[in-house]
Amino acid sequence: MIGPLVGIDVGTSGVKGLAIDGQGTVLASAEAAYPLSTPHEGWAEQDPEDWWEATQAVLARLRGAVGAPAAIGLSGQMHGLVALDGGDQVLRPAILWNDQRTAAECQQIEATVGLERLIELTGNRALTGFTAPKLLWLRRHEPEVYARIARIALPKDYVRLRLCGGHATDVSDASGTLLLDVARRRWSDDVLSALELDHEWLPRLLESPELSGTSREGVPIAAGGGDQAAGALGVGVDRPGPVSVALGTSGVVFAALERFTADPQARVHDFCHAVPGMWHAMGVMLSAAGSLRWVRDVVGPGVGYDELIAEAAAWPAGTEGLLFLPYLAGERTPHADPNARGAFVGLSVRHDRGALVRAVLEGVAFGLRDSLDLISELGERPTLGRVSGGGARSELWLQIVASVLELPLERVAVDEGAAFGASILGGVAAGAWSDVHEAVAATVKARGRIEPVPEWVQAYREQRVRFRALYPAIRELSPD
Ligand code: XUL
Repeated sequence: MIGPLVGIDVGTSGVKGLAIDGQGTVLASAEAAYPLSTPHEGWAEQDPEDWWEATQAVLARLRGAVGAPAAIGLSGQMHGLVALDGGDQVLRPAILWNDQRTAAECQQIEATVGLERLIELTGNRALTGFTAPKLLWLRRHEPEVYARIARIALPKDYVRLRLCGGHATDVSDASGTLLLDVARRRWSDDVLSALELDHEWLPRLLESPELSGTSREGVPIAAGGGDQAAGALGVGVDRPGPVSVALGTSGVVFAALERFTADPQARVHDFCHAVPGMWHAMGVMLSAAGSLRWVRDVVGPGVGYDELIAEAAAWPAGTEGLLFLPYLAGERTPHADPNARGAFVGLSVRHDRGALVRAVLEGVAFGLRDSLDLISELGERPTLGRVSGGGARSELWLQIVASVLELPLERVAVDEGAAFGASILGGVAAGAWSDVHEAVAATVKARGRIEPVPEWVQAYREQRVRFRALYPAIRELSPD
């Protein structure tokens, strides 16, 4: 019997920590929040010191509840840039995954490396949230900071630095930097030299279940994974089979791949999985449950989600022609466009608050279907989805998503997101299991199945044709 396995997820709103046992039962959990700063429109920054303080608070609470951990695994928000000087001091606030300031640098990268070659080397195109464009932005806009950079770190890896010393990352998180040769699972000298970036700045690369060091108290710390890869392990997506469908603030469709298979236009991201020898493709919508929160705040502030969703359930599939385009914060998949915006189209006097909510639930589902179709083009069409995230608590939303994706969906017994995946990676590093597959088989249990509603499927096929025509039409009308 191994002692408690702790997973730490360094998220965007706070740190979430979890302690599990060898069967995947949650023994204790703790959270500590921190602020997000947006000093200019489109910017998103955090103080890495806040991540560290929150992690210490969470670890102390878990230790109080379950005693000393047998291992710790780390996961976190991906893509964020922490710039460090030669003494490992933070040079400026971290620039986060949802920061949109780097559109010009993304264009510059694609022009310098060439889009086709960039996709060949990294599996991805240059997106504003990724790490490399942020370095170029610093070079242009804050040259005095740039000149002092000696090291760079991703969010969870900064926490690792404080926890056990040493600069290390894992291949799944490194995939979101645009500096990794994703196919070969090593830093890309070609991209580094094309962008004139220093290899010396980069951390040591590890596979996710590898040991990265030990804490001051002697606890082994696994390399861990980016939050999406760790979260996928938490719903049992460790190998090709079910796809993971995450309905958090953002919406993600994620499939494990046995080999590196990039979409020729990189409309879905192609990253290393947190499982040695596996990759994954994922489509990321920036506003999924975020769209639902938005519509609640606008048309029903103070009203509970249950009440709003009951009103939405009174409307038929397709909401009598009302369509919602969920690009409230720009979009990544399938339209890599930070300037994309949302819309309601097809309003009539009959439409009420419930109709607006239903159209939002459906619009997000159509966006997820776009990602699923792109993923299916890379290999086989999946036959099952595993759902997670706050949105997965709504039965109606899951019925809509199942009917739009034309895929049965399963929940898992423990929906604790990336922290759960991180804790099982910790367990593998500490020798509780021989590999990630064994760990997933021992800890992840499916619970309940949601089937597509046969009468809705046809209605949604028709509505989807209109949904797909909407973005190109609206882009023509947007101010810029
Ligand atoms: C993944 C991504 C987000 C962040 C924040 O590409 O951008 O999942 O990791 O959660």
